[in-house]
Amino acid sequence: MSNRVKKGWLLLLVILGIVFLPTGEAAAQQGQVTQPAPDRAAIDRGGVAYQKYGCFVCHGSGGAGGVRNKNAITAEQVAGLIKVAEGYTIPELRQKILEGMLIIQKKDPKGPTPPLSMPSFRGSEEELNDLVAYVVSLDTPPSVVSTTRPPVPASMLGKGNCRVCHAAVVKQFESNIHAKAWPEEDSRSDIATTCAVCHGDGDRHAQNPSDLRTIIRFNDVSSASAHDKNAACLACHERGLRFSWRGSAHESRDMVCADCHKIMAPASDRRLLAKQQEMEVCFQCHQVRRAQLQRTSHMPLREAKVTCTDCHNPHGTTAEKLLSADSVNETCYKCHAEKRGPFLWEHPPVAESCLNCHEPHGSNHASLLKSERPRLCQRCHIEARHPTTPQPVASRFVFNRSCQNCHSQIHGSNHPSGVRFQR
Ligand code: HEC
Ligand code: HEC
Ligand code: HEC
Ligand code: HEC
Ligand code: HEC
Ligand code: HEC
Ligand code: HEC
Ligand code: HEC
Ligand code: HEC
Ligand code: HEC
Ligand code: HEC
Repeated sequence: MSNRVKKGWLLLLVILGIVFLPTGEAAAQQGQVTQPAPDRAAIDRGGVAYQKYGCFVCHGSGGAGGVRNKNAITAEQVAGLIKVAEGYTIPELRQKILEGMLIIQKKDPKGPTPPLSMPSFRGSEEELNDLVAYVVSLDTPPSVVSTTRPPVPASMLGKGNCRVCHAAVVKQFESNIHAKAWPEEDSRSDIATTCAVCHGDGDRHAQNPSDLRTIIRFNDVSSASAHDKNAACLACHERGLRFSWRGSAHESRDMVCADCHKIMAPASDRRLLAKQQEMEVCFQCHQVRRAQLQRTSHMPLREAKVTCTDCHNPHGTTAEKLLSADSVNETCYKCHAEKRGPFLWEHPPVAESCLNCHEPHGSNHASLLKSERPRLCQRCHIEARHPTTPQPVASRFVFNRSCQNCHSQIHGSNHPSGVRFQR
């Protein structure tokens, strides 16, 4: 008789004085469980242990299943335990419960880690044997599923409780920049207590996991308001770049931090962004900007040398259009300082706004210009002595850089005789 089997099923039955004994070796070799006469007392005790250790939280009352486990290969649910014994030998089943399962296979390999893991069993040897007997006995779904749920055992409550049921998620979180963002008053906390700083306290949720309103969630299907979701983040991040978040264009459209950031499994190397490239984050909604970037003239955004946040602060600013500097021109001067002047001869539309002539997101005219020259200039200079009248194509007034063939210093001139921006 093999030791494994002895330790498992047989020992229990012998102790309980059951007369019928299966031939253990044969059963193990076949990988099948020969049906012994069920021991009602052990099964009943196993049923109590099933409640006591909270198995019902994930496997359902009476092993009926039905608990969601997003992106798990098992139909996105935790498998029920009805007839589970058919796929296991007794020792295997015992081992499974004793060790638990940290890694649950994903349905979509690129999707999130399934939230629920199987915890390892912490009870006594006798309880384990009883549990196995109970699980083996589950061959029909419970006829009546009780509407009153038993209370969740104390071992699943308290600080850091997330680890009990979400072990794989907690493990994965170790490498997150937030892994050490636990409350200041609590210097001895571990990662599992960190979860609460964003998701809220876990006890109410543990006692009734199927009511997802008991935990703060950040995705679209969550019933929490955008304001509540953001408040969880702003508790630590209100200052700095988010000083003007409240009332900003994005906030007032009920956007949430999680529209642009992904905390648990970020797609980017830095800033926990929802997409690998920052621009892609914005293009989720600003499709026109994506199209503009494909135009022939553009700043090196496509080349990733300039990004949206060089000019905008998506979290809100005191300037209009979420510009990160006080005005359009101040924004441009950050990189084009030479255009600031001062000039001896200033061209007023330049000092007023670069947007008088440029379209910063991309244009099909050279140098990001808003329109073709000479029309660009003639929107304002119709009164000029020369060429307001139509010119032959080869005329020096419209040829090549057009007006700038002569008025080359269009942003302003420091030459004593540069009044007409010719030098
Ligand atoms: C926090 C949730 C959770 C708790 C609590 C839990 N399990 Fe599990 N259990 C799982 C998950 C997840 C799996 C593996 C994936 C699956 O099959 O759905 C699993 C797998 C199993 C399996 C193997 C099932 C199979 O089809 O391969 C058995 C048996 C089992 N659990 C028994 C128990 C027992 C007994 C308890 C109580 C001591 C328990 N589980 C508590 C989540 C849990
Ligand atoms: C007693 C076990 C248990 C404990 C403890 C527990 N959870 Fe859960 N949690 C569950 C179950 C079961 C679900 C799945 C509920 C459902 O989808 O029906 C779940 C779901 C979730 C979800 C939603 C997942 C999704 O797919 O959207 C989040 C978020 C979550 N838990 C966070 C936490 C955090 C944070 C803690 C600790 C503060 C915690 N849980 C503690 C059992 C538990
Ligand atoms: C800094 C805030 C923050 C912390 C800390 C945090 N979470 Fe989350 N969690 C989120 C956000 C935001 C989401 C929504 C999806 C995302 O951004 O990845 C989320 C989603 C989830 C989900 C659902 C997964 C999904 O893809 O739908 C689970 C489960 C979860 N968190 C559990 C935990 C656990 C367990 C911990 C502790 C180890 C934890 N979270 C710590 C912010 C946080
Ligand atoms: C308990 C405080 C706390 C909460 C709550 C919190 N964070 Fe953080 N967060 C931090 C700390 C600490 C850092 C690390 C900052 C640092 O090192 O400068 C951080 C960093 C970040 C970063 C920058 C990552 C990087 O690579 O630089 C982002 C983005 C972020 N958090 C988003 C969020 C979002 C979104 C939420 C809400 C779902 C949130 N945080 C909730 C404390 C918190
Ligand atoms: C419209 C998209 C968008 C929204 C909404 C958004 N962020 Fe960001 N966030 C970004 C981008 C893009 C960066 C990277 C900026 C950079 O690297 O300068 C960033 C950077 C950060 C950083 C790291 C830089 C820093 O400030 O130290 C933190 C922290 C942060 N965001 C928190 C939040 C919080 C909290 C919210 C919700 C109140 C939020 N974000 C909402 C796009 C967004
Ligand atoms: C989830 C969708 C969404 C994402 C992602 C998003 N935005 Fe927006 N954005 C909006 C909406 C909605 C408005 C308001 C549009 C309106 O008022 O016409 C807006 C407005 C703006 C404005 C104009 C503000 C104003 O005062 O008129 C700027 C600039 C802007 N977004 C930049 C960005 C940048 C940069 C990013 C990426 C970091 C980004 N957005 C990501 C939805 C989004
Ligand atoms: C070189 C600076 C610069 C860069 C880079 C930039 N923007 Fe802008 N953006 C501006 C300026 C200036 C305005 C104001 C335009 C106006 O007032 O007409 C603006 C306006 C906007 C608006 C509001 C348009 C409207 O008509 O209300 C959106 C949306 C926007 N930008 C999105 C983006 C996105 C997305 C990116 C990244 C792909 C980006 N911007 C990159 C300078 C920039
Ligand atoms: C983050 C730095 C940065 C900011 C801010 C910035 N630019 Fe640029 N800009 C560049 C770079 C880099 C180039 C490419 C220079 C080169 O290729 O030599 C460029 C090129 C240009 C060009 C020439 C494009 C071409 O096709 O020749 C124009 C016009 C221009 N920027 C206008 C603006 C305007 C208007 C603003 C303010 C709305 C602005 N820039 C803000 C970095 C910036
Ligand atoms: C009156 C129209 C007009 C205004 C206003 C204007 N520009 Fe220009 N800009 C031009 C023209 C035209 C060109 C093309 C020059 C050429 O082809 O030699 C140009 C070219 C540029 C270039 C690329 C060539 C170079 O000189 O470096 C940059 C950068 C630039 N402008 C930045 C700015 C900035 C920054 C502002 C605002 C401070 C601004 N422009 C305002 C008309 C204007
Ligand atoms: C948004 C309107 C606007 C645009 C576009 C514009 N200008 Fe001007 N420009 C002015 C104003 C206003 C003055 C100042 C007129 C004055 O002082 O009487 C001026 C002055 C000038 C002067 C000097 C005239 C003088 O009397 O000293 C020249 C030359 C000139 N612009 C050429 C151009 C050229 C070339 C372009 C196209 C590249 C152009 N401008 C585009 C508004 C514009
Ligand atoms: C072949 C050279 C040349 C070209 C091309 C040219 N200009 Fe001029 N422009 C001049 C000269 C020279 C003056 C100065 C005349 C003076 O000082 O009396 C001048 C003066 C001006 C003035 C000052 C006001 C005035 O009437 O004296 C404006 C405005 C002006 N040009 C706009 C333009 C515009 C707009 C274009 C393009 C459609 C253009 N110029 C193309 C040579 C040129």
